[in-house]
Amino acid sequence: MDINEYLKKKERRIAKRMVRLRDVSVFDFNYVPDSPLLREELKLVIDALVRYEKTGIANNILIVGSRGCGKTLSLRYLQELFRARGMTIHYANCRLTNTSYKILAHLLRVRARGVSFDELAARFADTCQHKAVVILDEVDLLSPKDRDKDILYFLSRSTSNYMTILLSNNPGWATGLDGSIQSSLQPEHIFFRPYTVPQLADILQSRAREGIRIATGPTIKEIAARTAKHANSDVRIALKTLYYWALEPGVGLGDNFERARRDVVVDVVRSLNEKNLLILKAGAAGERQAKDVYESYRRLCIRYREEPYSYQHFHTSLTYLQSLGLTLLMSTKVNRSFAKTMQLTFPVEILDEFLRLRFGQ
Ligand SMILES: Nc1ncnc2c1ncn2[C@@H]1O[C@H](COP(=O)(O)OP(=O)(O)OP(=O)(O)O)[C@@H](O)[C@H]1O
Ligand SMILES: [Mg+2]
Repeated sequence: MDINEYLKKKERRIAKRMVRLRDVSVFDFNYVPDSPLLREELKLVIDALVRYEKTGIANNILIVGSRGCGKTLSLRYLQELFRARGMTIHYANCRLTNTSYKILAHLLRVRARGVSFDELAARFADTCQHKAVVILDEVDLLSPKDRDKDILYFLSRSTSNYMTILLSNNPGWATGLDGSIQSSLQPEHIFFRPYTVPQLADILQSRAREGIRIATGPTIKEIAARTAKHANSDVRIALKTLYYWALEPGVGLGDNFERARRDVVVDVVRSLNEKNLLILKAGAAGERQAKDVYESYRRLCIRYREEPYSYQHFHTSLTYLQSLGLTLLMSTKVNRSFAKTMQLTFPVEILDEFLRLRFGQ
């Protein structure tokens, strides 16, 4: 078979499979459905926004929830909804604009150079002298170089009473905040619980209705159950499994789930810093007690010339890594007391590849 023949054969095969799909775009992770599933905790956010809309008294909010639990989607949806009601509501993702300065420049839609943060802040205050909501997504990814987190201070101290909504999948993030920011921001903490199996099934069902031509039968429930049990209810993994299942009729659901999980895990591991990569590597030797993993982590830090986290910080990172679906933390009975154990939830080869890339060995 020559190259042309091979290409044509491949094309025919893919075209045949694509017939099973009605609309591929609904499987894009940035797709916003017309009517997302309403989780109970979101009502608290809606209530606060309505209160602000009516009274102008701001109630800042910090939403914490694990990966793929719908934080971004829910808030982007509310942004559109409240915009249509006439409210000024801004959005910035701190992964893309990772300093206070860049965020303000982004909100002002300017390419600021040679202007100080204070000047930008004054400009923002000038152009926005009325109530406005600012959503800062993935706020834990604000650069460590942005030590004072001026944006939070500015928003919470404004005389225009801006309302700030912060989103994070890192439960420990707020504890590292400066005392003066904490006291002026005083955010209400709202925790988005991992979706339950019926909630996941609901989300999958409505996506399947829009995106798939073939009947799904019991598959939706099976994907939902697997995702809740093995992927910390990350909807991305559920959606990708459904997509592969629709596209690859000959492959079993288990294999499609593993493939989806691998795709998503690779994306998450790629975004981690070196310290977290080393913590994962230290935890890769099967289920072990957290204190033993910490010892291995310290040894790895010496080997890779990294400054290790303190034990307390290491513990916060373990919780964070669990919220990303990369580790499983459990309380196990040892003698008469309980000890925390951890294990990886994904194949260590993925990690090794990134360690090689980052540390070159
Ligand atoms: N309530 C919902 N209704 C419909 N789709 C949802 C819902 N919640 C999440 N999804 C889908 O799941 C995927 C992940 O959601 P989202 O990006 O909002 O997660 P997240 O909590 O922001 O995750 P991360 O912590 O990684 O930023 C998206 O494709 C989104 O469309
Ligand atoms: Mg998000």
